[in-house]
Amino acid sequence: MKGIVLAGGTGSRLHPLTRVTNKHLLPVHNQPMIYYPIQTLVNAGIRDILLVTGGQDAGDFLRLLSNGKDFGLQHINYTYQEGEGGIADALRLAQHFVDSEKVCVILGDNIIEGNICEAVQRFQQQQRGAHLLLKEVDDPERFGCPEIADGRILRIEEKPKQPKSRYAVTGIYFYDATIFEKISRLRPSWRGELEITDVNNMYIEEGTMTFSVLEGWWTDAGTFASLRRATNLVAESGANKLSSTAAPTREAD
Ligand code: DAU
Repeated sequence: MKGIVLAGGTGSRLHPLTRVTNKHLLPVHNQPMIYYPIQTLVNAGIRDILLVTGGQDAGDFLRLLSNGKDFGLQHINYTYQEGEGGIADALRLAQHFVDSEKVCVILGDNIIEGNICEAVQRFQQQQRGAHLLLKEVDDPERFGCPEIADGRILRIEEKPKQPKSRYAVTGIYFYDATIFEKISRLRPSWRGELEITDVNNMYIEEGTMTFSVLEGWWTDAGTFASLRRATNLVAESGANKLSSTAAPTREAD
């Protein structure tokens, strides 16, 4: 399974912090934000990783991460998103890299307490389609929010005024290679972006979407409130923990 970290966008909700640097290079406790999602993939045995970034500071990622030696990697792939056309627009740039394999996509501002080893193993068994990780939150209106009935997701609404559940769709997604054909059918949303929620709804409509609930805390870090929350959570209890039973025994292929 291949891994993609999405670290484009302008981070406008964190101005002026992000006027002269990329959001994902900001510190979260004792590491740059981008370290956490990369570590999440590596902990799950995913070592073939593409980082999508953009903006004026893209070169800083190369200086910071080089070939990934801080993560025990020998190589990291990079690509560049022009503008900020949305999460699905950034993901589209990974088509050449993913080819016909399965892929785990993680947003560059998503940080978790634990690991995704179980979800990776589960998706490796799933013949086709997609898998989402959900998390119960106090403010589902800030996220993609699923409507769930009889153990299935009926539909996901992006930032709904009246959420239909207490769950957020986290920014950790598993897809089969049909993702790129689905993205090619997308039209920009009211905010001018290609929305990952629209792609997820296509999988739901074709009946190939599964989900599980993430254990341990999860947070994004793209607003002042969530950046502070992320820093506090990491400082208090640490991130990306591997339970002894969850350690990957071999590379996820
Ligand atoms: O964090 C989970 C949430 O992330 C999901 O619940 C939502 O369904 C999903 O739309 C997304 O919502 P946000 O409004 O928080 O997304 P944001 O625009 O902050 O982008 C999140 C990350 O995606 C960002 O850290 C980098 C990447 N991104 C985003 C855009 C708009 C890109 O790489 N390129 C882009 O053009």
